[in-house]
Amino acid sequence: MFPDRVVSGMRPTGALHLGHYHGALKNWVRLQAEYPCLFFVADWHALTTHYESSEVIEDNIWEMVIDWLAAGIDPEESVLFIQSRVPEHAELMVLLSMVTPLGWLERVPTYKDQQEKLTDKDLSTYGFLGYPLLQAADILMYRAAFVPVGEDQVPHIELTREVARRFNHLFGREAGFDDKAREAIRKLGSKRARIYQQMRTAYQEQGDDHALERGRELVEQSQNLSLADRERLFGFLEGSRRIILSEPQALLTEASRMPGIDGQKMSKSYQNTIAMREDPASVEKKIRTMPTDPARVRRSDPGDPERCPVWELHLVYSDERRREWVQEGCRSAGIGCLDCKQPVIDAIIEEQKGFIARAQPYLDDPSLVRNIVADGCERARKIAIETMRDVREAVGLDYE
Ligand code: TRP
Ligand code: SF4
Repeated sequence: MFPDRVVSGMRPTGALHLGHYHGALKNWVRLQAEYPCLFFVADWHALTTHYESSEVIEDNIWEMVIDWLAAGIDPEESVLFIQSRVPEHAELMVLLSMVTPLGWLERVPTYKDQQEKLTDKDLSTYGFLGYPLLQAADILMYRAAFVPVGEDQVPHIELTREVARRFNHLFGREAGFDDKAREAIRKLGSKRARIYQQMRTAYQEQGDDHALERGRELVEQSQNLSLADRERLFGFLEGSRRIILSEPQALLTEASRMPGIDGQKMSKSYQNTIAMREDPASVEKKIRTMPTDPARVRRSDPGDPERCPVWELHLVYSDERRREWVQEGCRSAGIGCLDCKQPVIDAIIEEQKGFIARAQPYLDDPSLVRNIVADGCERARKIAIETMRDVREAVGLDYE
């Protein structure tokens, strides 16, 4: 019904590390070749937890966008923007908030978890409770089909779907909807109209998802339909409401087990990261001092890669042949840990060369990044304004 858009956001945490690259950005780069993509800096989301240190947000934004570009996000291909520069997100959040039961937000797992974890911050604010609802507005604004996120974000996507459903249910009502839908069916032409009816019955009576899919395709392929009729036909297919906001799907980013230099998950809060554009000498030092299987006290002690975080780096950076070399050499004490680490060091430095080269023009001329983002904000805003027109009309706020 709407193009298969991909939307995702990141809080501006400053320079990104290899965990961000392998856990998210690499996937974004892949997606931009397949779908229209919008990627944005979730600066308001940063404010929900960092309102006491808001002065760092600005620098963090530009650092982060440069790393997106360094990773290979192509501004010709994807729309890059900043959340707060598209204030329609806030308007949509307000409207969604009117129909979102408090309990839905209180039950989102991250709400209590984060409050308990981040004890140095007072997160008993209205803004923090509303975090997932702001995220829902970010996604629904662009009628995204897919949202690439990590596992921890899945409950937020679930909430987004529920809120969309509730919104459509409450505001997709239309006086004489059934008559209008039947009128629209006639506009399909008799053959298509017949198939549409069959698909609708098959879906509604037998829950046949395939029929739903075929029905949707049929509507998509029909020219000469007004946007309003199209929405009616989509809604009528599933029930008896118009679909104003479409339900997105989470695209689970395959959990990259990118270990940090201490073996725990790579994360800024553990101070165990390697930045995407880190100096090669520093990379070398960090990897050389990384812990290995504790059983290998001496060079002649055999080890077990399964107990060694360096092995996890080989899973990211080495092909089958080199992995066999590690397995064999480690278990037989045929190689030392420094031998084992060297190809990882080389691979990381090689990967980073690409990042550093792509970032250079933006470091030389910061106005390039500003322009990319200004252009992205404008493109995002165009879509947002369209969505909000439909939303206001559905809610009944389109006063003349
Ligand atoms: N909450 C997300 C995170 O912490 C960031 C985010 C905000 C987001 N809005 C979004 C992600 C919309 C996907 C879609 O990672
Ligand atoms: Fe780890 Fe490699 Fe040393 Fe084995 S040889 S313990 S896999 S660093």
